Amino acid sequence: MELLIKGGRVLDPASGLDARMNVLVRDAKIAAVGKNIQVPTATVLDAAGLVVAPGLVDMHVHLREPGFEAKETVATGCAAAARGGFTSVVAMPNTNPVTDTPEIIRLVQEKAAPTGVHVYPAGAVSVGEKGQQLTDFAALKAAGAPAVTDDGNPIQNNALMRQALQQAKALGLPILDHCEDRDMVANYGVNEGAVSRQLGLPGRPAVAEELQIMRDVMLAEELGARVHICHISTARGIDIVRQAKARGVAVTCETCPQYFWLTEDEVLRQGALARVNPPLRTAADVEAVRQGLADGTIDVLVTDHAPHTAEEKARPLPDAPSGMVGLETALALNLTGLYHSGLLSLLEVIGRMTCRPAELLALPAGRLCEGARSDIVIFDPDKPWTVDCNQFASKGHNTPFQGKNLRGKVKMTISSGKIIYQEG
Ligand code: DOR
Ligand code: ZN
Repeated sequence: MELLIKGGRVLDPASGLDARMNVLVRDAKIAAVGKNIQVPTATVLDAAGLVVAPGLVDMHVHLREPGFEAKETVATGCAAAARGGFTSVVAMPNTNPVTDTPEIIRLVQEKAAPTGVHVYPAGAVSVGEKGQQLTDFAALKAAGAPAVTDDGNPIQNNALMRQALQQAKALGLPILDHCEDRDMVANYGVNEGAVSRQLGLPGRPAVAEELQIMRDVMLAEELGARVHICHISTARGIDIVRQAKARGVAVTCETCPQYFWLTEDEVLRQGALARVNPPLRTAADVEAVRQGLADGTIDVLVTDHAPHTAEEKARPLPDAPSGMVGLETALALNLTGLYHSGLLSLLEVIGRMTCRPAELLALPAGRLCEGARSDIVIFDPDKPWTVDCNQFASKGHNTPFQGKNLRGKVKMTISSGKIIYQEG
């Protein structure tokens, strides 16, 4: 199939391209990007007034299959991805059973194939995410895992983490590192601070995240290994990464919209809907996340899309699971919060949602240039709309952004040359 996308503002953050261009898609590849492309046989898509960018890449998504199909399935999660402009997602392995063998990696890949979204299942670092015995990294990599992670179940044992970083280095396999000291956070539902005191609940202290970031930065530095810090949320955590980068440590990090949009006060307003790990922090942390994005310390924007059922999220704060959905609001939250606010350029925001994560994980994604896979999102960067979780394709309606007025709306998502989402 040939598609000629005409007259849009074409972005390719990896090369710095930001210009009015035409894009010719021929099946699974981009055949040409240029000012004067004429192909009489092609189906024409008028993109005047719209942005044409590489399909978005989310390196932190919970698709919940196998095992938690009441929360989400690969099919519904991928429909949500397509609706949000994402054509590539990395699926987290905290499934049931845990994605710790090539068989389960393949099961997720098979479920994903008909959806049209490129799903890259990450493998677990430890068997069953129990933090005791390492998985077979080489086998997981051979099955297609772009990274390993025990996301949600941080590794407590320092010796095991050191061994994991060593093995990952030998294989060139990134470790995606959810940093929180488990003994310090237990199953608590809110940041330790003013709000936890007001609610009379024990909290998750910022230092629990910072200690593990520091530990893993030190281990990476000692070993000359790479580590990627997941969903960074605290000012001091960002400072640790900033200083480590300045010393040449191979550390990268990501954050999510909730960490630069919301503070711990949201828990007072929305209860369990604002419960997430790591927790929403203070206004000073929110400002530090914005600074970390502005100065490039934070490499990647992810969602940590974490669907849960309405019944689970209706429980009292201490008993409800942590997490919020994000695939269908991320682009607008990032555009409104970072681009329309003047903090980052459009190319910078889109680069952190496309080529940057693709580079970190060596995914064949995130580019809009001749020869690249024809994964494309077309969006109106200015269009105002109101978040309504009842319109979500995700099974999870657990968003703290319900009713929020945002700018930036996905019009069409194309994956390997096929239209997988179209507005209206
Ligand atoms: O809030 C969270 N939810 N943080 C995690 O690390 C895991 C995730 C989940 O699986 O629900
Ligand atoms: Zn996590």
